[in-house]
Amino acid sequence: MVAAITAEELGHVELVSNGVAMLNNGPDTDEDEENGGDISGAPFEDMKDIRLAASFFANGGGAAPINSNGASWNNDFITTTGNVVFDLLHNFHLECGARLHKLRVYESLTDPTGREICGYLLVRGSVHAHAYALALKKITGVEIEKMLPVPNIPLGNIPECQKYLDEGSHRRLYTFSPDDYKEMSGIWGNGEVALPTDPQGELEVVEGMPDGGKIQQLAGVPSAFSPDYAPEEMLEIAEKLYKASR
Ligand SMILES: [Fe+2]
Repeated sequence: MVAAITAEELGHVELVSNGVAMLNNGPDTDEDEENGGDISGAPFEDMKDIRLAASFFANGGGAAPINSNGASWNNDFITTTGNVVFDLLHNFHLECGARLHKLRVYESLTDPTGREICGYLLVRGSVHAHAYALALKKITGVEIEKMLPVPNIPLGNIPECQKYLDEGSHRRLYTFSPDDYKEMSGIWGNGEVALPTDPQGELEVVEGMPDGGKIQQLAGVPSAFSPDYAPEEMLEIAEKLYKASR
């Protein structure tokens, strides 16, 4: 179950990365497409006033493995004690913390792209917290799922969550594998049902993975030197280098 949830988390990193890129770059415009753009008019003057200007200066508005203050992800963020109960409890704690953070990010946004991402991740994050709670219940007998949701804001209060609840996303856990990890239905399933504040129904393990979403292909922004070369030029350069190396 931990492996399957970890696989889903990688998809969530991809989703957040694309969301960050879309929010930072805004809708595509044609103005800037040719001749490297006009940089003499300080097209990114506003960037010096944003709180984390490095997200533009260093990363061109793309997502980077840093927190909202620019501190890099590192192994201090990992807790692994070797005790399965303690480690599952830590994962449960992380998922509840992530829910709190998503809610606060949601409250800080009006942009529909950001809110949609928060809405989706709140539903899936609740699944993960619920799954770790049920795993802990299985091992210890303690009814940890009764502590959910934390904080006590039902997903039904968030309009962007509604369609995911309607389709039953809060009751599904994916194996992210064609053959492995089916045993987690002993935890997620086995007569267990949705959390009391969510639409009711049995929990269900789905073999494989959910359909991927569409990824917005952002236009280049030459005045931000991003990308410096068009992809077809990169391919041409790579081909020339490859031939020269033979
Ligand atoms: Fe999660």
